[in-house]
Amino acid sequence: MSPSMTTLYQQHLVILTTRYDNAMAHFGLDAIVLASGEKSYYFQDDHTHPFHAYSGAQQWLPFTLGADTYIVLQAGKKPTLVWPVRDDFWHAPNPVPSGDWQANWDIVSAKKTDQWCVGLPKQTAWLGPNAMPFAVACEGLKAYVDFAKAVKTDFEIHAMRQANLRGAAGHMAAKEAFLAGTSELEIHLAFLNASQQSAFQEPYPGIVGLNEHAAVLHYEHKSTAKMPASRTLLIDAGANEHGYASDITRTFTRHNDDFRALVNDLDAMEQTLCRSALSGVSFRDLHQETLVGIATLLHQHKICSLSVEAQLAKRIPQVFFPHGLGHLLGLQVHDVGGHQIDQAGTLSLPDEQAPFLRLTRTLEQNMVITIEPGVYFIPMLIDKMQAEINNHGCDMARIAHFMPYGGIRIEDNIVVKHDRPENLTREAGFSQLSPEAFGSH
Ligand code: GLY
Ligand code: MN
Ligand code: MN
Repeated sequence: MSPSMTTLYQQHLVILTTRYDNAMAHFGLDAIVLASGEKSYYFQDDHTHPFHAYSGAQQWLPFTLGADTYIVLQAGKKPTLVWPVRDDFWHAPNPVPSGDWQANWDIVSAKKTDQWCVGLPKQTAWLGPNAMPFAVACEGLKAYVDFAKAVKTDFEIHAMRQANLRGAAGHMAAKEAFLAGTSELEIHLAFLNASQQSAFQEPYPGIVGLNEHAAVLHYEHKSTAKMPASRTLLIDAGANEHGYASDITRTFTRHNDDFRALVNDLDAMEQTLCRSALSGVSFRDLHQETLVGIATLLHQHKICSLSVEAQLAKRIPQVFFPHGLGHLLGLQVHDVGGHQIDQAGTLSLPDEQAPFLRLTRTLEQNMVITIEPGVYFIPMLIDKMQAEINNHGCDMARIAHFMPYGGIRIEDNIVVKHDRPENLTREAGFSQLSPEAFGSH
């Protein structure tokens, strides 16, 4: 780590230590063990599922944690890292990463069979999978620490800034591959190469959809068919830095036509929403504002002739924008605690207006969130609208015209501030990736 990153990391550790010391005092605990987790195997196979460490453990260290790693926290003591010794000849050795971070830790190397937990105090709680029998049950501890995770430290924000830089490099390469007429698989490989990661290292499986595939929200296939005349590319893909994710979507178009005009207007609306991510704002309200914005676009682009009010009453915007506006972002792409409104774990669940909203909290300074409005032409939802909504006011010929383009999503990562939110994605170079920067082809 650079000296400035080391300083940020040390400040980050001070904040985490205070959070967990408070938790121990609150619940009357003497120690907390954080476990990264164990590897799991495919059925009847000797290959393992891709491994992701429990985020509560990963949060403490500035490198990607593997399996069978433990952190022991006790008030007034340095944290202890219990590092797994790998003593087999099949795999590469697994030394403790070197670096300045070690100054803040006690490090113990342990084989799987070593009894490293002997001697832990009686009131020791466990967070993570596969709790050991010695741990005391501590209802409420997970909710207590999860609530605090929503507000990021400067170290975490910087990691996500770097993750956005890597993601931006990938998206720029993907745009070029799309314009060159390559396949979805080739576009994905161009993204991975430019963002310097393998598919298993992505924070979530990248979504790369050409044409109608852009209307499949979680499109997971990567077709190998070359597409020299592809109209649309929707790419939702990110990168990791110190385990922290970026989660970025862009929609690129080949032609300067009325679909491009819709992309441009959604892009402008998305940037307005990003600037509205201020502390004190209810994310539920921001989602509602988005539905108004989508209704306005549908009207302006002659997709629906009903007024904004009439569209809202009939839930027309939800036909074209069926998901939530965004979510907390961190070590997990959909970070924990989005529906949790206090440390005690009280939940505020989404309502029927926005059943898939993953974030219902009031925004606070230094929360990191995504803003990701979309407009999609999804045959199943359009058929449902025709069957269930009387006088829907939609121009079916216009919709049929847009269907071959699939849809649009534009997604940025935002640090919430009191006055001017920081847009990690645009500042990473995405101004070069805005739809109007394309020119016509
Ligand atoms: N890539 C997943 C999401 O945007 O939420
Ligand atoms: Mn997202
Ligand atoms: Mn995404």
